[in-house]
Amino acid sequence: MANKEPTQDGTAETDGLEIPELVSRPRRNRKSEAVRSLVRETHLRRDNLIWPLFVVDGSSQKIPIDSMPDCFRYSPDVLVTEAKEAFKRGIPAVALFPALPDSLKDRLGTESTNPEGLLQRTVRQLKDALPELAVITDVALDPYSSDGHDGIVEDGEILNDETLEVLAAMSVSQAEAGADIIAPSDMMDGRVGRIREALDAAGFTSVSILSYSAKYASAFYGPFRDALDSEPRSGDKKTYQMDPANCEEAVREVFLDEEEGADIVMVKPALAYLDVIARVKSETMLPVAAYNVSGEYAMLKAAARLGWLDEEAAVMETLLAIRRAGADMILTYFARDVAERL
Ligand code: PBG
Repeated sequence: MANKEPTQDGTAETDGLEIPELVSRPRRNRKSEAVRSLVRETHLRRDNLIWPLFVVDGSSQKIPIDSMPDCFRYSPDVLVTEAKEAFKRGIPAVALFPALPDSLKDRLGTESTNPEGLLQRTVRQLKDALPELAVITDVALDPYSSDGHDGIVEDGEILNDETLEVLAAMSVSQAEAGADIIAPSDMMDGRVGRIREALDAAGFTSVSILSYSAKYASAFYGPFRDALDSEPRSGDKKTYQMDPANCEEAVREVFLDEEEGADIVMVKPALAYLDVIARVKSETMLPVAAYNVSGEYAMLKAAARLGWLDEEAAVMETLLAIRRAGADMILTYFARDVAERL
């Protein structure tokens, strides 16, 4: 555009329109993909991704989950094949969740420490086939509990200290099976310290703890509970999972987990809690994980299936936003698809 004589108030006139003389033009940094890539602040890489997987007993099983399109409950043999494929695509870690029949559930979650249990067998098969893949195991009673709660229930109350003993034994059992990272998702007080102590006493000083430090009592876990049939049989999880209204409290939980020996801290869910991720990232020197949970997955899938959203673009934007908020790593059911695209 031709230069115009500035008027007295610092504007130029073009066809009667007043055009300000701009010094700052942020659009210059957006003018081409090459320039945009130079100034890009956040990146999503394959090695930021953790793929959560549901495992069911049997062989050659790939059972769909209604509320989580394109996610399946895999039997251990199929799960190993899927994990191989994901590892080849550059995903460094998977997180395992066992789906058990009611016949194996009881009040104390006894099956959780069975060395021949489904989870333990799956971990061994995975580590045999893929020693370099990091295997993360979930520590909480809910998949094993006839009450569908993360702790032991007595007269409607979730017992804290009694539950810690089960969680500690479960963690050691998972470490014996070969888990690289133990991930307590139960939200009992003091569990990270108790688990660290039990792992160390059993000689597993190099097994890590990824703590679900700030896990909220969220409506976004619904599809996951369908996948595992782990809906609480009575009551809700509000006496142990956090109130969605709180952020300061998340920082307190993170500090406690740090003191108790956590190696990585996590915020869950991710999307409605980006402020919490950002706050936690600024308060801790530990790596921060975020869980892009089942309900967040289901929302995008549903809208995409109705033709209301471009799935690929919406997923990339979502995961990038979680990274931008401060998450170093993301657990997401989109991991394998995204790894292919990156
Ligand atoms: C339970 C657990 C839950 C999830 C991971 N571990 C559900 C719950 O607390 O009820 C949810 C994951 C998701 O929704 O994707 N210990």
